[in-house]
Amino acid sequence: MNKQLFSLIEKLATEHRLALAEYEFLIENRTVEAAKLLAEYAVGVRKKIYGNTVFIRGLIEVSNICKNDCLYCGIRRSNSNCQRYYLTSEEILERCQEGYELGFRTFVLQGGENGYYEDDLLCELLTAIKAVYSDCAVTLSLGERSKESYQKLHDAGADRYLLRHETADAVHYGKLHPKELSFEERIRCLHDLKEIGYQVGCGFMVGSPYQTSAHLAKDLEFIEKFKPDMCGIGPFIPQKDTPFGQESAGTVELTCFLLSIIRLIRPNVLLPATTALGTIDSFGREKGILSGANVVMPNLSPASVRRKYLLYDNKVSDGAESAQCVEELVRRMKSIGYEIVSSRGDIKRI
Ligand code: 5AD
Repeated sequence: MNKQLFSLIEKLATEHRLALAEYEFLIENRTVEAAKLLAEYAVGVRKKIYGNTVFIRGLIEVSNICKNDCLYCGIRRSNSNCQRYYLTSEEILERCQEGYELGFRTFVLQGGENGYYEDDLLCELLTAIKAVYSDCAVTLSLGERSKESYQKLHDAGADRYLLRHETADAVHYGKLHPKELSFEERIRCLHDLKEIGYQVGCGFMVGSPYQTSAHLAKDLEFIEKFKPDMCGIGPFIPQKDTPFGQESAGTVELTCFLLSIIRLIRPNVLLPATTALGTIDSFGREKGILSGANVVMPNLSPASVRRKYLLYDNKVSDGAESAQCVEELVRRMKSIGYEIVSSRGDIKRI
């Protein structure tokens, strides 16, 4: 292997950080051999902290109604081909019940940004979930809100919050989002969430339009500095009714390479093998786990809405991607030497 590449990987594995230019070099000059070595180190540190366990989260897609118009996203406001829905609190509680019976101890409530889930409704819902499922964690993924709102939701029992930063480069951010959205505001939200005491997840798409290795290097540096508890990354996948419908998708190869790097930057991070990874490759989840990921998030949404939460084309929601088929997931993880566990799966502080 190229000597410089080899020494960068050694440095990352021991120091858990690189300079910005070094991250960029590593990405630009990556080889199959480098990916293999990185994955070995990543799986090594992951096993030291989490053994061979894989945490599961029940993903409840509460609504595809969104006031935003992000250029990559299939549930963007101006997509008139998207059949809109929202779940009521009763429907969400029903999903939690089924999830609980299936062994889930974390529920992720994810949805577009809309006025339906205002603070009072959500606080009531969180209180209800926590009253029945006191041994479960609740993760929210409902986009940008005020600090006061985040505080209220945390006080009502929300444990974790996922808000991908999408890209750590402000100019690139501007090319993916409408002008009403700003990188600064996104980062403000992430810092507020952390300050309040949530376990916080950031993340980005791999291979999004206009993305360069320099942008990805910035994403890695951002993760190094922000120190998220969770980090969601997956390949960009075009959705035909969006302005990026004709762009090409990100790759499994680069996503897995970055998963290994992120594991080495943040050894204890909760790192999902995402649905997008499972969508572009039928073995994608396994490849993610074998690169250092330790979380999977099967779909726990009602069957009637699953095909409506179409962030991108061909999004999988059946088979091992569905919470009802958790047994299949258990088998598949076992076949690569990993064990699905039924616990909250909080971050291990080291
Ligand atoms: N391809 C891949 N991921 C997408 N997301 C939204 N649209 C797409 C797409 N076309 C991701 C975003 C968002 C998360 C909920 O889904 O990163 O934060």
